[in-house]
Amino acid sequence: MTTTVADIQEDNEQAEVLQGLTADQKNVSPKYFYDAKGSALFDAICKLPEYYPTRTEVGIMQAYVDEMVECVGPEAAVIEYGSGASTKTRLLLDHLDDPVAYMPVDISCEYLHNVAAQLAADYVDIEVLPVCADFTKPLSLPAPRREPVRNVVYFPGSTIGNFSNSDAIRLLRQMRGDAQSDGGLLIGVDLVKSREVLELAYNDPAGVTAEFNLNLLRNLNREFGSDFDTDKFRHEAIYDDEHQRIEMRLISLQRQTVRLNGCNIEFEPGEYIVTEHSHKYSYESFAELAADGGFTVSDTWTDPDELFSVQYLEAA
Ligand code: AVJ
Repeated sequence: MTTTVADIQEDNEQAEVLQGLTADQKNVSPKYFYDAKGSALFDAICKLPEYYPTRTEVGIMQAYVDEMVECVGPEAAVIEYGSGASTKTRLLLDHLDDPVAYMPVDISCEYLHNVAAQLAADYVDIEVLPVCADFTKPLSLPAPRREPVRNVVYFPGSTIGNFSNSDAIRLLRQMRGDAQSDGGLLIGVDLVKSREVLELAYNDPAGVTAEFNLNLLRNLNREFGSDFDTDKFRHEAIYDDEHQRIEMRLISLQRQTVRLNGCNIEFEPGEYIVTEHSHKYSYESFAELAADGGFTVSDTWTDPDELFSVQYLEAA
């Protein structure tokens, strides 16, 4: 049997997951939420009354899209990191001045290709170039047929909040590379607010977030052959105000041993896996992060309650 690049990547990912699950604080990257089912569950979360970020960000986009497209300028190539359903992007594409190309980047390949086909049909003048990739790794982007005036990265949803400070800086620098000399980054940034509002948004009474969190274990079983039993874990999300972040957990309901690639992963009752951090920012803390990533904040838009913000960053 020959070893392919895909096999080696698969091995690396398995090693990475195993390392997280055997660390002092067990953890798994939130990128494992997003198989086709996970992407659909995330879309359902976005519609929940308690989950304010999506609705608020869409409201900000609708209110200020004219100012946003003014920042982007004509004949731009738009690169979206973690494009999912590309819902908010449609608003941009509807208002941009003669955009050259749209490059959605997403890890959920099947989902990405369906969304891209629909977009290509709806926006016949825009070259849609889907990139199925893990954007936490270096990306090679396709060259559009028509030369863009500038590249603008779109990164909505406050997905930046999923990253530790050092990983967020690394990611911003990668986007800074994509933006080249006079491009930019249009980014959604969730703001610090009360614990009550935050914890309700990540512990919805309908249990959709719980289902989304537990689905990660099914994804690990399928991808890496582990034997997690989703009935033996429960979802919880807490706000850590020292680190200004939501922490999503899967808590073991009992003492148990899970098998992954010949390794035993032991759980005490109540012991948990951290599956996601979702950092919340002040304008100041985000400006500092942007600067460390090679950008300067040029415009900031928010809603009347200052729950969420959309910011345009220029390549510094
Ligand atoms: C897609 C990372 C922005 O952190 O709010 C929603 C994911 N997790 N509910 C977030 C999520 C639980 C979401 N991001």
